[in-house]
Amino acid sequence: MTETVLLVGGGGREHVIARALAGSDVELYACAGNRNPGIASVAEGFESLDTTNPTAVTTYANEVGATLAVVGPEAPLAAGVADALDDAGVYAFGPRESEARIETDKAFQRRFMKKHDIPGCPDFETFEDMAAACDYIDEYDGDLAIKPAGLTGGKGVRVIGDQVTAEEAKEYLRSADYDRVVLEERLIGEEFTLQGFVANGQLRVTPAVQDHKRAYEGDEGPNTGGMGSYSDASLELPFMTEDDYMDAVDVLRATVEALDGYKGVLYGQFMLTAEGITVVEFNARFGDPEAMNTLPVLNTDFLDVLTAAREDEPLPQLSFAPKATVCKYAVPDGYPTNPTAGAKVRIDEESAGDALLYYASVDEREGDIYTTTSRSFAVVGVAETITDAEKIAEKALATAGEEGLRTRHDIGTPELVQARIDHMAEIRGE
Ligand code: AMP
Ligand code: GLY
Repeated sequence: MTETVLLVGGGGREHVIARALAGSDVELYACAGNRNPGIASVAEGFESLDTTNPTAVTTYANEVGATLAVVGPEAPLAAGVADALDDAGVYAFGPRESEARIETDKAFQRRFMKKHDIPGCPDFETFEDMAAACDYIDEYDGDLAIKPAGLTGGKGVRVIGDQVTAEEAKEYLRSADYDRVVLEERLIGEEFTLQGFVANGQLRVTPAVQDHKRAYEGDEGPNTGGMGSYSDASLELPFMTEDDYMDAVDVLRATVEALDGYKGVLYGQFMLTAEGITVVEFNARFGDPEAMNTLPVLNTDFLDVLTAAREDEPLPQLSFAPKATVCKYAVPDGYPTNPTAGAKVRIDEESAGDALLYYASVDEREGDIYTTTSRSFAVVGVAETITDAEKIAEKALATAGEEGLRTRHDIGTPELVQARIDHMAEIRGE
């Protein structure tokens, strides 16, 4: 039976989801705030609407006769779009608002981990009174990470001893006017992402990915939504052991068991420390860019995962091509602090060559594609090794040109991957 799938969201993550579904027996419709030309080109219909408005989304879902929906970004999940779709009789692959709190409320998330004894929870305290939070910084023996409890697009965290001094952290708390913050021990190590498909109490995991949050090469500058990412031909990354990977799987499994009726993607951000893995955060959706490392190597039909989830059937076992991937984002000049929008984007699938091209926060107007103030497009190399995948991605970026755009050319290079391995060896005292 042909499924009519509504895809919610217009970023690079949603472009790769659209591409993954386009090869299946699917009539695809999409809605987003921006007109993403990559999604529009594979969809039967594309509606520009506010994806955080549940009524707007369900109205469009009903109009196209959707039998399934995939919600890509966190903002619609936080706004209850999955609830509204479910209630309208359209199965949404994405958690209901109450379950998405695992991402949208970091205070809830830490208390949830503690209550259910989920391994990998750092020491933490939550504060509603910023003056009390500042006192805690003064009293605490060691460095802390300061995390606003709500969504900040990955840009709200300040780590003392890494990005800021204790004085700057206190100033940040006083001036930012957050309702609630989490203060937790600073974790030192290497970060990685593990994503799994979840439905009917089951979990199916995907290869580990490492994202690069800092804006500039050498991990300098402010945090971003993610500048690029890589995965290896095996499930783990070069700086990890198989046991590290399995420990992360155990954390996701314990979390799925503790959650009640969660469906969608569960994303774990982990810090591999000297003592093993610790949870940095959970997300209630695919990572962006991490989805672009994952779906291109997924051999299993993504649609089969969605229909099994809806039908309350066992989720299919996943099979992945044993390939490495490197994803690099081109972002507008000045991103993330002072981005300049409106540059013309001059890359298409043909000029990207061997690389996969995913459009993100660009807008198509009168046949031309323009940057907005967020990440513009990503290129992904897929190859036997990370080094070869990196070269494929770079070749595509070279043909795209850099006018008005910026990239982290160091992502996935042998030097940076080796630096991660050396860093981890040093941390483990090897
Ligand atoms: P989050 O929004 O929770 O993903 O945090 C953004 C980034 O801040 C993470 O990817 C880490 O690099 C950093 N971070 C968050 N929590 C901690 C922590 N407890 N210790 C060190 N770094 C952290
Ligand atoms: N790449 C990090 C995120 O999607 O939250």
